[in-house]
Amino acid sequence: MTHNQLLEAFPLKETINEAYNPPLVHQREYLVNGEMLTWTGPVHEVVSPIGTRDAEGNITLPVIGSYPLTTENEALAALDAAVLAYNSGRGEWPTMNVQQRLACIETFTKLLIASKAEIVKLIVWEIGKSSSDAEKEFDRTVEYIYASIDAMKDLDRDNSRFVIEQGIIGQIRRSSCGVVLCMGPFNYPLNETFTLLIPALIMGNTVLFKTPKHGSLCHYPVLSAFQAAFPAGVVNTIYGRGNVLVSPIIATGKIDVLALIGSSKIADTLKKTHPKTNRLRAILGLDAKNAAIILPDADLDVAVTECMLGALSFNGQRCTALKILFVHESIAGVFNDKLCKAIAQLKVGMPYEKGVQITPLPEPNKPAYLQGLVEDAVAHGASMLNEDGGLQVGPLCYPGLLYPVNSEMRIYREEQFGPLIPVVPFNDVEETIQYLIDSDHGQQVSIFGTDPEEIAKLIDPLVNLVSRVNINAQCQRGPDVFPFTGRKDSAEGTLSVVDALRAFSIRAMVATKSNDVNKAILNEIVNDKDSNFISTRFIL
Ligand code: G3H
Repeated sequence: MTHNQLLEAFPLKETINEAYNPPLVHQREYLVNGEMLTWTGPVHEVVSPIGTRDAEGNITLPVIGSYPLTTENEALAALDAAVLAYNSGRGEWPTMNVQQRLACIETFTKLLIASKAEIVKLIVWEIGKSSSDAEKEFDRTVEYIYASIDAMKDLDRDNSRFVIEQGIIGQIRRSSCGVVLCMGPFNYPLNETFTLLIPALIMGNTVLFKTPKHGSLCHYPVLSAFQAAFPAGVVNTIYGRGNVLVSPIIATGKIDVLALIGSSKIADTLKKTHPKTNRLRAILGLDAKNAAIILPDADLDVAVTECMLGALSFNGQRCTALKILFVHESIAGVFNDKLCKAIAQLKVGMPYEKGVQITPLPEPNKPAYLQGLVEDAVAHGASMLNEDGGLQVGPLCYPGLLYPVNSEMRIYREEQFGPLIPVVPFNDVEETIQYLIDSDHGQQVSIFGTDPEEIAKLIDPLVNLVSRVNINAQCQRGPDVFPFTGRKDSAEGTLSVVDALRAFSIRAMVATKSNDVNKAILNEIVNDKDSNFISTRFIL
């Protein structure tokens, strides 16, 4: 991949065809208290990383729209709407029966599906995700919603009975927590936001949701679906700069749950702004620096394929990406050669092209940051092993394999979140365990090997250092019914279809002494269907 080849991945301005078809969405509306408000103030201009080139080799990135940059006042008004809709747990939404709430979620999902093409296109053009991956993200989100609906039905069925213990009759359910602030990341702008927002809603919470800086416009078509499907104030949006809007909201003390997939630094700061930190529940998916450990007897073809997918899917912009590879020194040479060859096979291009794997990055500062990591690694003794590794043209960064990486280099610890693969040779597997012990992160690890005894020896310490140990496979969040969590600075709380319902709710029960008077009261409440909580209704 030469500089010219990388440049030619961008279409020439004079010859662009129908494939180069950027969206144009100038969003001025935002949803608060069931109303679509119109913003007339400053906006954020959305620039797509999918640029064009001219004959001189200059890249121009197109403006594909804009969205409101509201102030603290609008954000606080949105918060008030969510607080009012929750109404200290007395609002229509938190007191509604589960079946009715699920009906609203289903109505919403149908409307969401109707906007699929528009949403997928915006994801592609805003964050440079390939069309097929953007489509997968959409479909996975819809599947997640339907799976959450089923899981809620199961939960409700399990709880639709009384428990009698030691002369006490109780009905135990899960009830809402209050007002939830949801914030997802740019790399899965739809999916990760919805894996927070949907379970939060299902459990009866009201929601304030802030879109990510990149990957914001793709939520625009969803706003009218929220407006149509839910009672006023149940879903409210905040548009603008996180550093301006979010701290004041949390400082009011009116947020009950902070649901964030983002950086640990931001999560730490935000939590501290709550006047009573003990009242704030945090559900967080944060930084990670997942390692792969390639043992001497590993099947190198499997290891190379999985490590490349793990490190470079969506250009390495996944929290679950493999961000450092420890390779036994006896096989490092062969492994590196194979990995270089595999990288050379990757299709580089624009996200709308079929089969494309390496695409332009949406964060304007990312190429310079990656370049800095490469220079630092080279200054400390690493080489770029693959031809033209690390080459950049505008937002398009060609993957680079750095070897040998050591603890002096920034990339040894920093989460690159981009297409760089640092490879560290090791002699004793203890070195890899020590890396994980010293790490600030603890999300997942991948082990590659064929000897069950050696793998088993690693599994036992590693499950106490990370939350998922993958054998002969890359790290990943899915399947979504599996628990997604991490230790240290990587996460707080657990997300999965079922776990998320638990995370956004609290156990609540009604109990009474088992005597004739109380039994008669309970029977009458059940028979007359007077309560949505005390109920033996069974959702079919
Ligand atoms: O960015 C983190 C995502 O949750 C990763 O999900 O492993 O399925 O790509 P994934």
